[in-house]
Parts: sequence; C-alpha cells; structure tokens
Amino acid sequence: MTSSYDAEDLARQSVAPPTDWGAMPDPDKLLSQGGEPPAMPGIDNIFPLEWTTETPKLEELYEKSRDPGWAPHLLPWDTLDPAAFTQDQRYAIAYWFTLLSVFDGSGPAVFARAFVHTYEKHEESPLRKCFFSVVRDEHHHEEVCERAIQRLVPGGPLDFEPQTPLGSLARHNIKWLYYNGGRYWNGYKKAVERYPLPILFTSFLFGEVASSTLFKSMEQQTAIPVFREAFRRIAQDEARHRAICMFILGKLLPHLTDAEKATITKQLRAGFLFLSGILFEPPRAGFWELPEAFYPAHRLLEEEARTAGLGVLSLEDRQDNWRDAVLKLKSVIDPYGIAFPALPEIGIDGETVTFDANEEFVAVF
Ligand SMILES: [Fe+2]
Ligand SMILES: [Fe+2]
Repeated sequence: MTSSYDAEDLARQSVAPPTDWGAMPDPDKLLSQGGEPPAMPGIDNIFPLEWTTETPKLEELYEKSRDPGWAPHLLPWDTLDPAAFTQDQRYAIAYWFTLLSVFDGSGPAVFARAFVHTYEKHEESPLRKCFFSVVRDEHHHEEVCERAIQRLVPGGPLDFEPQTPLGSLARHNIKWLYYNGGRYWNGYKKAVERYPLPILFTSFLFGEVASSTLFKSMEQQTAIPVFREAFRRIAQDEARHRAICMFILGKLLPHLTDAEKATITKQLRAGFLFLSGILFEPPRAGFWELPEAFYPAHRLLEEEARTAGLGVLSLEDRQDNWRDAVLKLKSVIDPYGIAFPALPEIGIDGETVTFDANEEFVAVF
C-alpha cells in the first residue's frame, strides 16, 4: 500500500511540469462567476482596509509619542531606599500608589478597550495610532505604581501582613478601593458600546485634564527624587493625551445634538465624582461606595505619606487645584453650548444632574 507520505510519489508530483497552459483561467469569466461577496448585516469587521488621515495634527502627535523619552525601568529606583522611611511611611506611600492604581492601573485596559473601539468604528488611521500610544503610556504609568509598591511593601498592596495599626488600616481601605474599581470597570464596559464618540472623548479629556494637573502638582511637591522624575514624565505623557483629546473634540463638538449635549453634562458629573477620588477625596454620594471609617483612615495615610515627602497636597490645596482644572475644562466645553453640571463639592454652580452610576458611567483617568 502506498502511504500518502511516499517520498518517491511526492518527488514525482513536485517535479511534474504544468500541462494545462491552454486552460489558464480567464479573469473576466472568474469575476462573472464569483458572485458578490456576502453582505454582513450586524457584523462589524474590525480590521481596516483604509488608512485615511482626516486630522493631520493627530499624525504629528503620534509621531511625537513614538519615543516617549522615558521608560519606568530606567527611572532611578536604586535611589529609593526603603530603610530611609519608617514602616508606616512605607505603608502610606504604597497606599497612595494603590489609590493611584485604581485610576492609572485601570488605564491600560480602559484605553485598550477604547483602542479596539476605534477599530470597530473605523476611525481615521492617526486616531487609531494615537490610542495605541495611549495604551502603551498608561501601561508605563501602571508600572510606576507596581515598582513603587513592590519596593516599599513587598507583596503589597494586598498580600502582606501589616506590622502596625496604620498598615492594617491601609489594607482595609485598599480592599474598598478595589471593590469600587470593579464597579467602575463594569460601568465603563457598558458605556463604551453605548455612547457616541463625542461623549466618550469628553470624558477622556476630563481624565487627562485631571491627571496632568495631579502629576504636575506632585512633581513640584515631592521630595523623593525617583518620584519627581516619574511624575514629571507621566505629566508629559498626560499632556500629550490631553492634546489628542482636544484635537478630536475640536472636530466633534460643533456637531452635537441636544440629546448628546445633555448626556455630556451627565458624564461630566460622573467624571468629576470618579476623579475626585484622587484629585480631592471620594465624594460620599453618586459613585463611591465606602464605609464612613474609610475617610479618617484615608486622611491618616495621606498625612503620613505627606510627611514622608511624597508630595500629596493638603485637602485645601487639592480642592483649589481641582477647581482650577475643572474650570479650564469648562472653558473648553462652554463655547459649544453644553451645560456644565453643578459641582458643589468644589464650589462650582451649574445644572443638577442625576444618573445611574452602575449603568451610565464613562469616567476615565
Ligand atoms: Fe496615566
Ligand atoms: Fe492619560
């Protein structure tokens, strides 16, 4: 019996000359016989067959981002000596970076989801590229959190045995932060599919305004060299993200419907509530679900991190800083006839809005 792997047979086949030259197919005949490719109702094809550029400025921003000029592993981590801090200071700094992780640690997945969305919506090529760069940047920011926490509290933020009461408070609060981070992601996943791009990008812009504000202020305040450099670099990345959002919104906002404007007003309130968790303090109503005991522990840990030189602003300074940033965002939004929500927490008047935090939430850092 001849096996299909018979070497002689294979050799014969491979050297056999073509014998059908006279029957070469006729391209016209093939085309007429091929039939129309099937329509795909309800099926989104994500891979692009087009690389159009509608906003050349985005292409420029992407070119600038190709080399961000830094990488987390090249920061001077060897200058961060855990022994230079007390145990409580180590817990407190690691706690703050865990709080940051709720925002910057979710950044890679949040923007990766948005990146996929730009393919689903067949957005212009430079926009897809810009989101690719944002995913990379956010992953760098997450890595800064990882390195800071691991160096100061090995096994942290959850897998460590607290040696002091403050350490126990930190771990307790971290579990609550993690719970709220999960609720945020569930709302975000639904919102990305539901809302049109102008609404998503207004939320993205809010996050970028918040983050660039936060890191710039902490760069100025921190006394710890490796964090000064990290905050400086992250602030640069965030300023680039902000510029990307500004250019996209400059294109989208002039064409809003009234219903979209009303949704943006709600999403701005949602963004404020979420981002206040780090820019100010988690507001007690609207999104965050935290026990009352969370707050005094949170303040103790922030105070400890401040005395360790991390650069956490006082609550009053954070309130002023956050209000300035929000007012800057308001000045971008106002010319398009979008009502700004009331933000009484930081003394900003506006429209009172309500929304379901578990269903309609699209805040991003
Ligand atoms: Fe970030
Ligand atoms: Fe960002």
